[in-house]
Amino acid sequence: MVKQLNQETVEFDRRVPDVYGDAHPKALLKAIQEDGDHLKKLASQHVVSSDQFGREMQLQLFRLAAKYESNPGRYNTPLQGKILISAFYEPSTRTRLSFESAWHRLGGDIMSITDRSTTGIAKGESLADVAEMFNNYGDCVVLRDTREASIHEMMQSLRIPIINAGNGIDEHPTQALADLYTIFKWRPSLLQLRTGKRVPIRIGIIGLPNKMRTVRSLLKVLSTFAEICAEVVIIHDKKNNRIFDEEQLEQLEVAGLKVRTTMELNKNLPDLDVVYINSIAWVGDRFESYGEKLALNAASPLKREAIILHPLARGDELSADLDQTSHNWYFSQARGAVFLRMALLTCMCERTERVMDVI
Ligand code: CP
Repeated sequence: MVKQLNQETVEFDRRVPDVYGDAHPKALLKAIQEDGDHLKKLASQHVVSSDQFGREMQLQLFRLAAKYESNPGRYNTPLQGKILISAFYEPSTRTRLSFESAWHRLGGDIMSITDRSTTGIAKGESLADVAEMFNNYGDCVVLRDTREASIHEMMQSLRIPIINAGNGIDEHPTQALADLYTIFKWRPSLLQLRTGKRVPIRIGIIGLPNKMRTVRSLLKVLSTFAEICAEVVIIHDKKNNRIFDEEQLEQLEVAGLKVRTTMELNKNLPDLDVVYINSIAWVGDRFESYGEKLALNAASPLKREAIILHPLARGDELSADLDQTSHNWYFSQARGAVFLRMALLTCMCERTERVMDVI
């Protein structure tokens, strides 16, 4: 029997919920002077690691992302005529869809591969040969692969730019850029870099720098803005304390980041301004979960004004009872990633001049 639909129950609410944080993209437009020269350098680069992004390039990307976010209808076709090859060989909700959303919003077209077994790789084709074909079919590649080495193998043959959208336990540079973009939108005063008005923040990272690509990449971008961090506290539950790769901590400290590690979550939470949490790492062809005793919920002793970031997908480590609180900036973080990726794609596809000098 067909059940009759009650039409009064199918309405939905278009308003963006309050849980999307009180972000200030327009404040970034005021705080950062436009300088397209740093962005034009991206036209000849693949994006593999957060190491590639110096301060000025990041600031200009954040400014362009803020332009897109402040006025989303204004710049709708800078990538008209360009084709993105979106190749995701590992599950993804946010990264694939936000890259594709970004590309569509910029007026481009997309070819999407969501399973490597539908390509010649299943017949033993080399990644170098696949890359050679990509040169003929598209203008930019976004790749997520469980193998760290795949992006490097493809780069050997590519004559179009490729973006690392997560390679095993190694890196996820555009996620880290989106994370820092969120932090600056939350507290634009951190951009008063050379004045006495800026108050550094304490950032807690619940996760493993040597296993989680989002954490590894985030620490790198934070190290380029070390002066905004009074301290970065890594909170973990690894009894053997092996949470850094060889030289990883040293490199962060040489860059000026003050890093402390602890296994005590609740003792440290009341001092943290930003709490970043993640529990998943892709190791080989499966994901592993860490930190089962390190969970956040609405009863956690957070500072009243502290924000929580999470690259998502979440598990039990981040309770949904935080979603309706002012600590929830993880949804805003995921939303802002679209604008950050719009900015990056515009520059990598040599369309920067189309969006400069337009407020
Ligand atoms: N943040 C992130 O990488 O999420 P997805 O795995 O859903 O892409």
